[in-house]
Amino acid sequence: MRTSAEKPYDVLVVGGGIIGLVTAWRAAQRGLRTALADPEPGGGAAQVAAGMLAAVTELHYGEQTLLGLNLASARRYPDFVAELQEASGQDTGYRACGTLAVALDADDRAHLRELHALQRQSGLESEWLTGRECRRLEPMLAPGVRGGLRVDGDHQIDPRRLAAALLTACGRAGVVLHRTRAERLTVVRERAAGALLADGTRIAADQVVLAAGSFSGRLAGVPEEALPPVRPVKGQVLRLTVPPAYAPFLSRTVRAVVRGSQVYLVPRANGELVVGATSEELGWDTTVTAGGVYELLRDAHELVPGITELPLTETRAGLRPGSPDNAPLLGPTLLPGLVLATGHHRNGVLLTPVTGDVLATVLTTGKLPDEARAFSPRRFAPAASLPVRQEQPA
Ligand code: GLY
Repeated sequence: MRTSAEKPYDVLVVGGGIIGLVTAWRAAQRGLRTALADPEPGGGAAQVAAGMLAAVTELHYGEQTLLGLNLASARRYPDFVAELQEASGQDTGYRACGTLAVALDADDRAHLRELHALQRQSGLESEWLTGRECRRLEPMLAPGVRGGLRVDGDHQIDPRRLAAALLTACGRAGVVLHRTRAERLTVVRERAAGALLADGTRIAADQVVLAAGSFSGRLAGVPEEALPPVRPVKGQVLRLTVPPAYAPFLSRTVRAVVRGSQVYLVPRANGELVVGATSEELGWDTTVTAGGVYELLRDAHELVPGITELPLTETRAGLRPGSPDNAPLLGPTLLPGLVLATGHHRNGVLLTPVTGDVLATVLTTGKLPDEARAFSPRRFAPAASLPVRQEQPA
């Protein structure tokens, strides 16, 4: 067994998806000696995700607390992108293009009207448009579109470019990459103290951040009461190409709920058109299925009939890290020294900037900032394992 360094790192990040990378980058910027372990840093769900920054159009009843964090992250995006592009010298494909959510039938229209009411109650900006107004904005929409919601604040980024830029920024900030899997958490005197890697290297670290997406609940050595309750939620996604002669095919993200399933079309500036996504609870399966591709194309075709003319260039499936309440787990666990940054479910790309900032605070001060209090992993800890609070006499 090899030991990588005499002196322990300040931080070891387990998992090199966009959440692990942003955590490592921010930690290194704060002067912490940081290592990261992942067999394919920059891989993971970001290689599949469409990259919508959809705080407003993906609002759901009962998720108002999550909305606050989503909006905080959306507000940070322009400055975050500018800083990351400067630090990495790479473009991230950020596009402030807005979103149009449309309805194809009376049921969809009723659903969108409810979403509009919820957005207004929540103080969010969105505008109801008639079908004709929708088609004036996006002429490729189907003639049957019955109405829609224009949300000018929901933008997009290219998650593959985001991951690549974060990887470069990590390297430039001095993060040490171990291109291998973390196999087992090291626990010394009831404290996380590093990890044993699959290549036999033992990394010692004062703090360990578990940021391994849907795999975060599977790291050996993590005590039961600190293990994050995340599960994989499969998403199949298609990539098409808009030939220059067809451009501009769509000028903003277009989405709808068709027969109860979400479908969205995200047009990149470089001509890529991303169509997503299924949502399937099938364990660790990442097979692209004929049924998944068929349903996405069928629903996307109902929205924008012209897509059948476009070359289909890629089909892929990834795993969202789902949590019991669809919100992330951020901050210290019941095991001292073990910190979580996982469970981002449908919002990993959107929540990348705020996660980096929250984790930087946690790693340098040991405290969760107020904006992340509601996302402490302790909300899922078995009551028996929580420290008993001593009531002070009045
Ligand atoms: N936020 C989009 C998705 O998870 O499909």
